[in-house]
Amino acid sequence: MSKLFRNNIAAMRGYIPGEQPQDSGYIKLNTNENPYPPPPAVLTRLRDACNGDLRLYPDPDAHVLRAKLGEVFSVDSQQIIVGNGSDELLNIIIRSFAGEGDKIVYPNPTYGYYKPLIDIQGATAVPVEFPADYSLPNDLAVPGARITFLANPNGPSGTLLPYSQVAALCARIDGVLVVDEAYVDFSQGGCIRLIDEHRNAIVVRTMSKSFSLAGMRIGFAFAPAELITGMWKVKDHYNLNRLSLVAAEAALENIDVMRAHAAQVCETRQRLSGRLLELGFYVWDSRANFLLARIGESLAGHDAATLYAQLKERRILVRYFQNPPRLADCLRISIGTDAETDALLAALEELLAA
Ligand SMILES: Cc1ncc(COP(=O)(O)O)c(C=O)c1O
Repeated sequence: MSKLFRNNIAAMRGYIPGEQPQDSGYIKLNTNENPYPPPPAVLTRLRDACNGDLRLYPDPDAHVLRAKLGEVFSVDSQQIIVGNGSDELLNIIIRSFAGEGDKIVYPNPTYGYYKPLIDIQGATAVPVEFPADYSLPNDLAVPGARITFLANPNGPSGTLLPYSQVAALCARIDGVLVVDEAYVDFSQGGCIRLIDEHRNAIVVRTMSKSFSLAGMRIGFAFAPAELITGMWKVKDHYNLNRLSLVAAEAALENIDVMRAHAAQVCETRQRLSGRLLELGFYVWDSRANFLLARIGESLAGHDAATLYAQLKERRILVRYFQNPPRLADCLRISIGTDAETDALLAALEELLAA
């Protein structure tokens, strides 16, 4: 790599997102998108917004969207910031609270994008290994840490930690606690009230999963107003484009559609989990729109990498992680429609019988 780069950029490995195939025809269960479409009203409003106003910049303060988020989640709009996907908010948080060499902690394995963001900033990543059951690691409160990330539900395990444990952690740590709730709508959990009880709490959410709007790139975060004011200085001024703002507003106005789709996903998740267990996989208790399935002892002779490749040959994409080693015998499977789930199960049954 060219010597013109900063040392940390030259040394780091870039993030490799889940595969987005360029040809259609896949059953796509690899990047935790929602199998159901956004509400028709979102599409209508988007079409209406495709007009001459696109020559104008969007509202840098996202007034309307933040007011709607405030109403829906009973939070003051001064406690809300929106982002170009929650990935942008994670980026803003790191740039706001951690400098070169500062410690940023996260339990591992978790969402794979924290580490590259930390590397870009030149901060120091402090991964703390999750126990086998993905319960809260005892030593997550690392002295002097500027930021602690906690994906809850966690990816790729899907496991959810209870509010009481998250709140106790928040009270114990130095620096800010970022509760990444990308998947929370598929659970009964949620930590938004942390921000009223703790000056160092940030709760990040997204419209990419439960709201079926991954393509629009909309994230939002709740935090005490004092933290939001500081983060505001770091965000790009026009970070949400006009169409994303319109889509997000319409999605909130039709939030019942999101809730119904999330409930359907949870039902399918339960069915898939049950059948995977019967087939001999170990499946963690997921409260997200995906399952982490490990090749169990009764499936000796099969391996996850081969199953992944064989499913892909059958035009079914799931996620396989070569790293870390503890995930090498696992597949992460997004919850699809019932028909997609049936197709996946039929393919797995055939492959395991062979
Ligand atoms: C835990 C977690 N957080 C955040 C994100 C980023 O979501 P987005 O940038 O689409 O809002 C993802 C995406 O998969 C995720 O799994």
